[in-house]
Amino acid sequence: MSAEVPISRLWPAPSAGLDDAELTALYGRADRPHLRVNFVTSVDGAVSLDGYSAGLSGEPDKRVFGLLRMLCDGLLVAAGTLRHEGYRAVRLDAPRRAWRREHGLAEYPTLVVVSGSLDLDPAQAAFADAPVRPVVLTHAAAEAPPRLAEVAELVRCGADRVDLAAGLASCAGAAFGQVLCEGGRTLFGAFTGRRLGQRGLPPRRSLLRGGGPRGGSPRGPPAGGELSLRHVLAAGGALLLRYARDAAAPAPAPPTASS
Ligand SMILES: NC(=O)c1ccc[n+]([C@@H]2O[C@H](COP(=O)([O-])OP(=O)(O)OC[C@H]3O[C@@H](n4cnc5c(N)ncnc54)[C@H](OP(=O)(O)O)[C@@H]3O)[C@@H](O)[C@H]2O)c1
Repeated sequence: MSAEVPISRLWPAPSAGLDDAELTALYGRADRPHLRVNFVTSVDGAVSLDGYSAGLSGEPDKRVFGLLRMLCDGLLVAAGTLRHEGYRAVRLDAPRRAWRREHGLAEYPTLVVVSGSLDLDPAQAAFADAPVRPVVLTHAAAEAPPRLAEVAELVRCGADRVDLAAGLASCAGAAFGQVLCEGGRTLFGAFTGRRLGQRGLPPRRSLLRGGGPRGGSPRGPPAGGELSLRHVLAAGGALLLRYARDAAAPAPAPPTASS
């Protein structure tokens, strides 16, 4: 097994060689329902290599990725990424399950999939082998394939499109208010554009443009608003950035059609 790459905090309060307990404390859980988005990009903004995110990710990033899964109640992923990346069942190792039990959490987070088409395979391991029955956020007009309802809870939010705000509210109502979103681009863009995301990792300017990474160039003022930088971690050549939205900040003016 290869040695762990040390993760150090560069800002604020430099500190070398953070262990899992220190990293867990740095990311933490909120005291209210909230959405965290975890994303990896190359320095020049690519979100995949050869079509997959794995090539961008290193050991330190995977370590934080696992800790963020440990910290959440609901693990949200868009159907595109679930299908494309072949998501498997969400499992945690024994120390992380023990940490959750000690903190009064369910042993595993619940997988929450966003799909408008319900073009989902009930035999995919993410559903078939799930330790906790996954939830699928969809809309009232979507037709479920046979057997999907046997392996997942279908929650219909919206008449003919998925109402993400209602979906998040239903997550909070189902006692998984601390939601970690793992992508992909389209879902990330929908959240950042609508200011639903509360915390995120990767932007290199503290501005959320909206539309997702490389998600085009929507006209009008940025829809996502400003974020504040909470920490800068370094591991090898990688930076791990945590941004958060100031909950007290006013929402930006809606985009105008003419700019
Ligand atoms: N760099 C990273 O950290 C990272 C993380 C994750 C993924 N990725 C990469 O991102 C790519 C996938 O991104 P993508 O943009 O193609 O797809 P995506 O966001 O993963 O999935 C899009 C699909 O999710 C559902 N969906 C998303 N937003 C929705 C909304 N607001 N309402 C209703 N349904 C919604 C729809 O599913 P239906 O078609 O079922 O209606 C839609 O077709 C892959 O290359 C993946 O490897 C990168």
